[in-house]
Amino acid sequence: MPKLLHLQVACAENRVIGRDGRLPWSIPEDLKFFHDQTAGQTVVLGRVCFETWPRVRLDGRQPVVITSRLPDPPAPAVTNGSKWSPPLLTAPSLAAALSIAETLPGEIHICGGERIYAETLALDRPMRLHLTLVHADVPGDTFFPDWRHLAWRETSRRESADANYRYTFFTLERP
Ligand SMILES: NC(=O)c1ccc[n+]([C@@H]2O[C@H](COP(=O)([O-])OP(=O)(O)OC[C@H]3O[C@@H](n4cnc5c(N)ncnc54)[C@H](OP(=O)(O)O)[C@@H]3O)[C@@H](O)[C@H]2O)c1
Repeated sequence: MPKLLHLQVACAENRVIGRDGRLPWSIPEDLKFFHDQTAGQTVVLGRVCFETWPRVRLDGRQPVVITSRLPDPPAPAVTNGSKWSPPLLTAPSLAAALSIAETLPGEIHICGGERIYAETLALDRPMRLHLTLVHADVPGDTFFPDWRHLAWRETSRRESADANYRYTFFTLERP
């Protein structure tokens, strides 16, 4: 039985998730939520996301980076003082990344970007979407696929806000 896939995304009402290779907002509460959710777990992510998240391997995260470019065999694990960082694993496709992730301990968290989210949502397997919906239309160049028409069951929601944005933390599940 394949593992449950956790999708992690923060998305504006107009489905924007990124601009110029970065997040189009700074929402500390959401960033903390994301880091807490993914600490100690396997994170599957595209090359651009990886390059803009240099501290991904802190907190015991095991990245599996989807790319045609990074070296294979993978970069080894590193120890910095008492901290151990997992090795960097790479894969040429989502399917290959998921095959690797299935063999690793812990949960599988899909962290984008756009094409990886789209390919994951098209899979016919159980998934849990951890969606932070930012209640604004935000300019950007990278989008989360339209998820609203899919058959989700909402299992939790929590409203929050900071000085700049109102946002809602949703947990949505698909069998
Ligand atoms: N708001 C959020 O929750 C959130 C989450 C994630 C990302 N973002 C934002 O989104 C942007 C980055 O996402 P992105 O979509 O531009 O880039 P990305 O998915 O991180 O990286 C794109 C690269 O990953 C590889 N790749 C991605 N999907 C692949 C696939 N299905 N098969 C094979 N290779 C694949 C390719 O690498 P090679 O060129 O090396 O072959 C491709 O050029 C940033 O602005 C980031 O801040 C936001």
